[in-house]
Amino acid sequence: MANNEELFKSIISHAKEYGYIFPSSEIYDGLSAVYDYGQYGVELKNNIKQYWWKAMVQYHENIVGIDSAIFMHPTIWKASGHVDAFNDPLIDNKDSKKRYRADVLIEDHIQKIEDKINKEVEKAKKRFENFDEALFRQTNPRVVENQKKIDDITAKYADLMQRNDLAGLKQLIIDLEIACPISGTRNWTDVRQFNLMFSTQMGSVAEGADTIYLRPETAQGIFVNFLNVQKTGRMKVPFGIAQIGKAFRNEIVARQFIFRMREFEQMEMQFFVRPGEELKWFEYWKAERMKWHQALGIAPENYRFHDHEKLAHYANAATDIEFKFPFGFKELEGIHSRTNYDLSRHEEFSGKKLRYFDPETNESYVPYVVETSIGVDRMFLAVFSNAYCEEKLEDGSTRVVLRLPAMLAPIKAAVLPLVKKDGMPEKAREIMDILKPHFLCQYDEKDAIGRRYRRQDAIGTPFCITVDNQTLEDNTVTVRERDTMQQYRVSVDQLTGTLIGKM
Ligand code: GAP
Repeated sequence: MANNEELFKSIISHAKEYGYIFPSSEIYDGLSAVYDYGQYGVELKNNIKQYWWKAMVQYHENIVGIDSAIFMHPTIWKASGHVDAFNDPLIDNKDSKKRYRADVLIEDHIQKIEDKINKEVEKAKKRFENFDEALFRQTNPRVVENQKKIDDITAKYADLMQRNDLAGLKQLIIDLEIACPISGTRNWTDVRQFNLMFSTQMGSVAEGADTIYLRPETAQGIFVNFLNVQKTGRMKVPFGIAQIGKAFRNEIVARQFIFRMREFEQMEMQFFVRPGEELKWFEYWKAERMKWHQALGIAPENYRFHDHEKLAHYANAATDIEFKFPFGFKELEGIHSRTNYDLSRHEEFSGKKLRYFDPETNESYVPYVVETSIGVDRMFLAVFSNAYCEEKLEDGSTRVVLRLPAMLAPIKAAVLPLVKKDGMPEKAREIMDILKPHFLCQYDEKDAIGRRYRRQDAIGTPFCITVDNQTLEDNTVTVRERDTMQQYRVSVDQLTGTLIGKM
């Protein structure tokens, strides 16, 4: 594989070719940053959601789930701050008429300098034995100079973003001599704010109809149901409410496939705690969420925390779990200590008390909240891109294999009669009937057995079960494992248990 960009392209085409992800409305030339999940994609997505739901709701006695509506009272978005402050800074190139996010232009510029440093490091790595990367980064003049550039730009940029200084952002783009990738010119408009929420009208006639929003996060549906759940579920602080559902954002720069979409799904959990105990719980959820990721067996070096230094005004701690995507480390999940900001704002805007009476302290208070928030689609991309592998085999051929964690794989086992005769298809169907109640299986009798194995490798099926002559004699089948291609015989009576034990 030549480079990560090519690898990423191969991953995207593999996702389409094998029924995982299709561009939305493809026969009409697609709809930007919107995707459909195909027959295998929907299974993988459902398995990811189930894995999360189980970890959150089933394993934590003090967390319950809800499913709130996408449409909500418009004042909710006033209270949450989304109407006034859920903006991206926009800039247009006057020659190409292309629109960009000002912050992304600057971040891309920083990334280019970082790429130069990485290239320098890689070159040196090849040249010297016992290469000390840290020392090289501290002493090589070109690396030091470029690192200083990055630090200066980053500090300026963070300050401008924090102060919402739009004129300053434009000036920085000009100072950095950033040109439009299409026209190549630096003929920029002013930077202005663009709200990311989609709006629509509720009511049968436009006149008098209310403007409502497609929710940009599922979290607010949890906050506004805090008291309903606490009272009806007799929940005691600390407790959590979990939700999986669609969210919508009118992203200006929607790219990197399903990493940044306009319609996507979130898995969010708000954990309500006593004031003063939020940082303890923040640490708990940080560790707990990282464990959840790593339990999938994906190499730990693919994950890292990125603690936020500059916090949103309502947060007193925040971190991202970043994942090493083919295009670099990027945010996969956010964990935020949101204080009592959201509930207090909803108290203020609704005029309703959103308090909890704590029988242990005899106090009534607005609970503090620790949130965990992860995109289903982003998790899908993390798992899928990590699983994609082009492998050179001993015979010189290449096999494309999706090394998905067995627990998440869409099809767990493929049942394959060696030939389409001698009673093998009938026996294979019997085995399908044995396995079907336990997990999703696929029957396939078309093509030579080797080609069928490769097809299942490409789909990511962890086990192939082959029915052959011996099966008809002693009721055993060959189990072939996807990752090792190792084969062994198992009695049909023990097949279900053996496979379940390996998932
Ligand atoms: N309630 C907090 C919240 O929504 P966020 O950092 O804006 O926080 C949380 O989003 C997660 O949702 C992100 O870490 C990411 O996984 C996912 N996400 C956000 N915007 C997305 C988009 N446009 N496309 C796909 N996933 C997205």
